[in-house]
Amino acid sequence: MSDKTLRLAVLISGRGSNLKNILEHCALPDFPAEVVCVISNKEDAPGLLYAKAFNIPSFVVSHKDYASKAGFETALLDAIAPFRVDLICLAGFMRLLSPLFISHYEGKILNIHPSLLPAYKGLDTHQRAIDAGEEYAGCSVHIVTPEMDDGPVLVQRKVEIAKYENADSLAEKVLAEEYIAYPQAIRIVAAEKNAYTEKQDKHFNHLGTSMAGTHSSSPAPVDKDALQASWNGWVQFTHLIKYSVIGICAVLVLLALITL
Ligand code: GRF
Repeated sequence: MSDKTLRLAVLISGRGSNLKNILEHCALPDFPAEVVCVISNKEDAPGLLYAKAFNIPSFVVSHKDYASKAGFETALLDAIAPFRVDLICLAGFMRLLSPLFISHYEGKILNIHPSLLPAYKGLDTHQRAIDAGEEYAGCSVHIVTPEMDDGPVLVQRKVEIAKYENADSLAEKVLAEEYIAYPQAIRIVAAEKNAYTEKQDKHFNHLGTSMAGTHSSSPAPVDKDALQASWNGWVQFTHLIKYSVIGICAVLVLLALITL
């Protein structure tokens, strides 16, 4: 079993240089994530070769094979589900995901966009930034929401637009920053997951020791599922009492109104 914090699915549509960069980072011992599957919506995406080279299971789920977006996204969800992923990284994935897909991985889908969001959402970002006479361009890694290229930005990296810059040279400069930004964003998500798990552990350990009583010198082992189940039972019980009282009051008020 791997001791990496995050299991990643990477979704691509083309070249896959960000995928390659993520795979290389995952091979580093101190990097907190591993890629467990790669999915492309295009059969001929060159990036699929990187998945093969790194021995990662890869699949093609083509949007063209489905009559509706819902059908395509359901097939995507089905392909990803067996891998129990913690985070989905869109890396040059050229389909806009709808709430149907996003709701299954709320807050757990990242995308990289080659602009300093919220500026220049959509395509052709570099040329548009040059044409507008911008001083800076860059890239952003953000959490995916149903709006295109929207959602909270986790990492942003800036480059200067040179005097005679063209879209290709700018794309190259920005891409070098993308290779730093995406791993940084993955590390941030891993750190958040670790902090959350630690907090949960502390909470359950605290509950465990107080329930084990003060006589025991060492805390009893904590069965988190049993604790959660008994907590759920207590919550249901209090709801039952609450609704019974409300029901009885309502009946009494009705009787009072009828007799008046
Ligand atoms: C990158 O520029 C990324 O910002 C954008 O699509 C491009 C994908 O490149 N979303 P690659 O396929 O990772 O090489």
